[in-house]
Amino acid sequence: MRLDRFISKNSLHSHQASRLIIASGRVSVAGRVVLDARMEIDRFVAVSLDDILLQQQPVHYLMLHKPAGYLSATSDPLHPTVMELLPAPLRSLLHIGGRLDRSTSGLLILTNDGLWSRRLFEPKTKLPKVYAVRTALPICPTTSARFAEGIHFAFEGITTSPAELIQLSDHEARLTIYEGRYHQVKRMFHAVGNVVTALHRESVGSITLDPLLSSGDFRNLTPAEIQSAN
Ligand code: URA
Repeated sequence: MRLDRFISKNSLHSHQASRLIIASGRVSVAGRVVLDARMEIDRFVAVSLDDILLQQQPVHYLMLHKPAGYLSATSDPLHPTVMELLPAPLRSLLHIGGRLDRSTSGLLILTNDGLWSRRLFEPKTKLPKVYAVRTALPICPTTSARFAEGIHFAFEGITTSPAELIQLSDHEARLTIYEGRYHQVKRMFHAVGNVVTALHRESVGSITLDPLLSSGDFRNLTPAEIQSAN
C-alpha cells in the first residue's frame, strides 16, 4: 500500500492532509523519516506518525514437526489441532501453508506472511514435496514408472505431474511430488492397488524437517529457509 493511503487509513487525516504530513517529515518507516508519499510499504514494516506507532506486525515463519493424529486446522470440536501445539498468542495469527492429513506426520509450515506462503505453495511454483511412505502391500516394481507417467484422478479430471519414487524396501519408499492435491499420495498408491499405512513429510522445497525437532515441537525458520521461498 502507498504510504499516503496508509496514513489516511490509519489516522484521522484525509488523504491530502496525509501527503502534507509526510512532506513535513512527521512520518517514519522502519525508524527512518520518509518524505515520499508514494512509497510502497510492506504490511509488516513499522510505520509511525509523530513517534506514535501506527503499524508494527512482527512476521513469523515456523516449522512444526506435526505428529500423526493432529488436524491441520485452527480449531475442531473432535480432534486436537496443530495450533494447540503452539503458544496461545501465536495461534490466532498464523495460518498453515500446505496442510497435511490428520494421519500424516512431518514438516508443516506456519506463517502470518500470506504473500510468502502463497508464493511458496501456489501450483505454478511446482514445489517438490518429499514424503516417506509405508504401504500395506509390497510396492510393485512398476509403481515408479506409473508415478513418473502421472496418475489420472478422474474426480478432478487431471493427471498428476511426474513424480519420483525411490523404493527403500518392500513396503517403504521416498516419493517426491510437485503438487499438493487432496490426499494426493494416498490416492496415487490407491490407483496402483496399494494402501498407504504411514506418511511423513520430510521436506518442502529446500526446507527440510529439522532432525533435532521432536514430534510436536516447532522452531522459527532460519533466514536462509525463508529466503529460499523468495
Ligand atoms: N498426500 C496425502 O495423501 N496426504 C497428505 O497428508 C499429504 C500428501
